[in-house]
Amino acid sequence: MDAIESLKQDHKRVLALIDQCEGDVAPEQLHDLGKQIVRELSIHAELEEKLVYPKVRVLPEAEANFEIVEALEQHHVIKLIIGELNGMRPDDDVYLAKILTLRDVLEAHIDEEEGEIFPMAERHMSKNQLKDLGRDMEEMRGKLEEQGPNLVVTMFREVAEQIRRMV
Ligand SMILES: [Fe+2]
Ligand SMILES: [Fe+2]
Repeated sequence: MDAIESLKQDHKRVLALIDQCEGDVAPEQLHDLGKQIVRELSIHAELEEKLVYPKVRVLPEAEANFEIVEALEQHHVIKLIIGELNGMRPDDDVYLAKILTLRDVLEAHIDEEEGEIFPMAERHMSKNQLKDLGRDMEEMRGKLEEQGPNLVVTMFREVAEQIRRMV
């Protein structure tokens, strides 16, 4: 599958998981959904940051570099929220409030990616290049999935270090 199609599928999947959090959801079910959301987003962000963004950043378009800097800042905010979710129990309203806030941030970020960043890639990369990138993504996805919960723990530590540097 080409890289852009695969990223768009990830977006749909994670938004659908967030939709399932609303309504009459038992705390245990909410916790399971929260864990899946954290996991999906951790892997997705890693694929974009390591494989996709570096390629888009250097495309011959005036806004390419800035779009990626902005997207990375959005990832930073997303990671702060998922880092907090990862350490929480879902038994109060704050957990759901965080997930719904995450949705707002994600929707704005996805609009930027699908409206600005992915079209840049599609304008400058051939179908074969996008397919190769898609293959690299699936290979890295497989490795990240093998890491299990450790991936999220590592990310949480990175976020904690980022926060320490900011204060
Ligand atoms: Fe994305
Ligand atoms: Fe992203």
